[in-house]
Amino acid sequence: MMVVAFKLLLFLPGLFVSLKLLALAQEENQFIYHGFTGANLLPNEIAKIHPNGLLELTNTSKHQIGRAFFPFPFQFSTSLFNNSRSLSFSTQFVFAMVPELPTLSGHGIAFIVSPSVNFTGALSGRYLGILNFTTDGLSSNHLLAVELDAIRNPDLKDINDNHIGIDLNELISIESAPVTYFSDEEKENKSLTLTSGNMMHVWIDYNEVERLLNVTVAPITGTKPTLPLLSTSLDLSSVMLDSMYVGFSSSTGAVASSHYILGWSFNRSGQAQSLDVSKLPSLPPQRKPRRKPYLRIAVPAIAAIILFLAISGAAYIIRRKTYEELREDWEQEYGPQRFSYKDLYKATKGFAARELLGRGGFGMVYRGVLPSSNMQVAVKKVSHDSRHGTKEFVAEIVSMGRLRHRNLVQLLGYCRRKGELLLVYDYMPNGSLDKLLFRNHTPILNWVRRYQILRGVASALLYIHEEWQQVVLHRDVKASNVLLDANLNGRIGDFGIAKFHDHGSTPHTTNVVGTIGYLAPEIARTGKSSTCSDVFSFGTFMLEVACGRRPVESERPPEEVVLVDWVFECWKSGAFLGTVDPRLEGNYVEEEMELVLKLGLLCTHRIPSARPSMRQVVQYLDGNATLPDLPLQGTGIGLVPVSNEASREHVLTIPTSSEHISSYSFSDSESILSGR
Ligand SMILES: *[C@@H]1O[C@H](CO)[C@@H](O)[C@H](O)[C@H]1NC(C)=O
Ligand SMILES: *[C@@H]1O[C@H](CO)[C@@H](O)[C@H](O)[C@H]1NC(C)=O
Ligand SMILES: *[C@@H]1O[C@H](CO)[C@@H](O)[C@H](O)[C@H]1NC(C)=O
Ligand SMILES: *[C@@H]1O[C@H](CO)[C@@H](O)[C@H](O)[C@H]1NC(C)=O
Ligand SMILES: *[C@@H]1O[C@H](CO)[C@@H](O)[C@H](O)[C@H]1NC(C)=O
Ligand SMILES: *[C@@H]1O[C@H](CO)[C@@H](O)[C@H](O)[C@H]1NC(C)=O
Ligand SMILES: *[C@@H]1O[C@H](CO)[C@@H](O)[C@H](O)[C@H]1NC(C)=O
Repeated sequence: MMVVAFKLLLFLPGLFVSLKLLALAQEENQFIYHGFTGANLLPNEIAKIHPNGLLELTNTSKHQIGRAFFPFPFQFSTSLFNNSRSLSFSTQFVFAMVPELPTLSGHGIAFIVSPSVNFTGALSGRYLGILNFTTDGLSSNHLLAVELDAIRNPDLKDINDNHIGIDLNELISIESAPVTYFSDEEKENKSLTLTSGNMMHVWIDYNEVERLLNVTVAPITGTKPTLPLLSTSLDLSSVMLDSMYVGFSSSTGAVASSHYILGWSFNRSGQAQSLDVSKLPSLPPQRKPRRKPYLRIAVPAIAAIILFLAISGAAYIIRRKTYEELREDWEQEYGPQRFSYKDLYKATKGFAARELLGRGGFGMVYRGVLPSSNMQVAVKKVSHDSRHGTKEFVAEIVSMGRLRHRNLVQLLGYCRRKGELLLVYDYMPNGSLDKLLFRNHTPILNWVRRYQILRGVASALLYIHEEWQQVVLHRDVKASNVLLDANLNGRIGDFGIAKFHDHGSTPHTTNVVGTIGYLAPEIARTGKSSTCSDVFSFGTFMLEVACGRRPVESERPPEEVVLVDWVFECWKSGAFLGTVDPRLEGNYVEEEMELVLKLGLLCTHRIPSARPSMRQVVQYLDGNATLPDLPLQGTGIGLVPVSNEASREHVLTIPTSSEHISSYSFSDSESILSGR
C-alpha cells in the first residue's frame, strides 16, 4: 500500500506536468508574430532578437549556425480528447537574406518540423545546421525541412544557387524549384533572388486529406499567388512523430549572409493568419536592400548614357545655333557665291577679336583662312534686316562679285544669317592706304608708288563707270577704301554703298551717301550721286595722296582746313607745290605732281559737267592727253562755292573729317543697311 501510494506520489507530479504541457500545446495550436519582441522563442547561442523584434538567425560571420524554435512542440498524435489525428498545418513567414557581398552569400534558411531541438553535431554550411554527414538521410531523423538555398551544391543535387526545396530526413530535396512566383496580374512566373537583401514572403501548407505540401513564395509587396511554387504529393504520417517542434535553422559557410526572420504565423487548425507587412520590424539600416549587381553597373551606365545624350544633344543644338544661316530657294542660282557660315566661322576662328582687321563703313572686317582651300580672305560682317529687299541686295552682291579688275578688291561671295550678312573678299595684306598716308608710317610711300596707285584706282573707276555691263557708282571713293595688295597695288574696295543702275538711266536715290570731305556739292544739295560725284571724290582722293593729309583737318590754320580750297588758293598764289606732302622730301616728278594737283582740282569742280570723266582722268594720268587750263575765276573749284557762306559753315563745323553719313538704300523707301 505504502509502495503503491509512493508510486502514485511519484507518478502524480509527472502526470500533472504532462497534462499541463498538453494543455499548453492545445492552447498554443496557433501563433502569430509580427517581430519577436518578448516572444518566448528558443534561439541557439548565435541567433538573437534585435530590440525592434527582428530575429537574426546568423550575421555575416563565417561557419555559423543560427536557430530559433517555437518553445513548445505541437501534438501530431491522437489527442487524448479527440480521437482523430491531423497532420495538417499551415504557416507563413517573412525572411530576408542580406549578403556580405552580392557575389558571396550563403548558405540559406530552412523551415523545420523536427521532433527535437537538440541538433548537437549538426554542421554549418550546406548542412544548414540541421544534419551532418552521418545523420544525413537517416529515417530516424523524422525531419521535414523546406530549404531556401542560396548555394548550389552538386553533392546534394541542387538545381541552382537560388532554389527552394522540400527535404525529408536528408538534404537532397525530394522536390525543388528555382525561386519564382506566379504573378496573377501578368499571368507569368517571375523570378526572385533569395540573396537580394529584400524581404520575401513564404507560405507552407500541408493538407493531410490532399496529402499535398504546397510551398509558395512572393515579394513582400504582393499578395499570396494563386499558384504555389511547389505542390508536392507527400505522406507525412511516417515522418511526423507525436510531438514535433517547428522553427528555423540557418547557416553560413565560407560565404555568409545575415539571415533574418521578420514575422511568422503558424496554425494547426486552419489557414495561418496573414502577416501584416506594416507591423513587421525593419531591417538594419546598414543592411539596406542592395541593388542587384547588374543594376550597379546598369544605373551608372544609363546615367552616363543619358548624360552623354544630353551633352551631345546640347552640343548639337549649340552647333546648329552657331552655324545657323539663312538660305532660301532663290539663292540656288548663286550657289558658287554662297559660303557656308560654318566655313566662315572656322576661317575666322569664330570671329575672334585677334582676327579683326578693322571696322569698315558698315561693319567689322575679319581676316580668315578658308578651311577648304587654305585661302586668305577678309570677311565683312554687315548687319542687315533680312526682312527687306534681301533678294535684290543679294542680286547686287552677286553682280559685284562678277566685277573683275586688277584694281578692285575681288568680292568672292556672301553668306546670310538672321540679321547679318557676310561678305567675303580677297585678303589685302597691306591694309588700307590711309594708314600709310596719314599715320607716321615708315618707310613712307614714295611718289612712284603713289602715282601708280592713283592710276590703278582711276582705271578701276573707269571700269565700273563705263567698261562693265552696268554703271556702278562707288559713291565712297577715299583713301581708307583703297586697299593695298601684296605688291602694293591700290585696289578699291568697300562697295558697301555702291549703287548699280543701267547705262543710260538715271539713278534714283534720295539718300545722301558718302563721306564728308569727299562729297560732291550737288549731292549735299540734291542727294543724287552720279559718275560725276565719284569723279569729285576721286579728285579729293588725288589731293590726299599728293598732300599726304585728309580732305578736312580742323586742327589746321583756318585757310588750310579744307584741302581742296587750300590747294586751289595756293595754286592761284603760285605756291602750288607748297601743299605737297612734306614727307616726300621733294622726291617726286614735278610734272606728275603738278598734273595730279591740277587734275585733283579739276575733278572737284563745283559744276558736275565741268569735271572730266574717269576715261579722261585715266588719259591725263597716262599722259595720253593734255590737261586743259584750270579756270582762274575761282568760284568753280572747291568743295563749296566760296560765296556760299552757309554751306561752307556747314562743312567746317563737322568735327571729324571722315565720318560716314551712314545710310544706304536699295530703293527709295527701304534702308536695309545701316552704318556703325
Ligand atoms: C556575429 O555574431 C557573433 C556572435 O554574436 C559575434 O561574435 C560576431 O562578431 C558577429 N559578426 C559580425 C560580422 O557582426
Ligand atoms: C478533433 O480535431 C480535429 C482537428 O484538430 C477537428 O477537426 C475535429 O473537429 C476535432 N474533434 C473533436 C471531437 O473535437
Ligand atoms: C543532445 O543530444 C546529444 C546526443 O546526440 C546529447 O549528448 C546531449 O546531452 C543532448 N543535449 C541536451 C541538452 O539534451
Ligand atoms: C552527427 O550528429 C550526431 C547526432 O546529431 C552525432 O552523434 C555525431 O557524432 C555527428 N557526427 C559527426 C561526424 O560530427
Ligand atoms: C510557373 O511555375 C509553375 C511551378 O514551377 C509551373 O507549374 C507553371 O507551369 C509555370 N507557369 C508559367 C506560365 O511558366
Ligand atoms: C496546394 O496547391 C494546389 C494547386 O494549386 C491546390 O489545389 C491545393 O488546394 C493546395 N493545398 C493547400 C493545402 O494549400
Ligand atoms: C488559425 O485558423 C483558425 C481557423 O481558420 C483561425 O480562426 C485563426 O485565426 C488562425 N490563427 C492563426 C494564428 O493563424
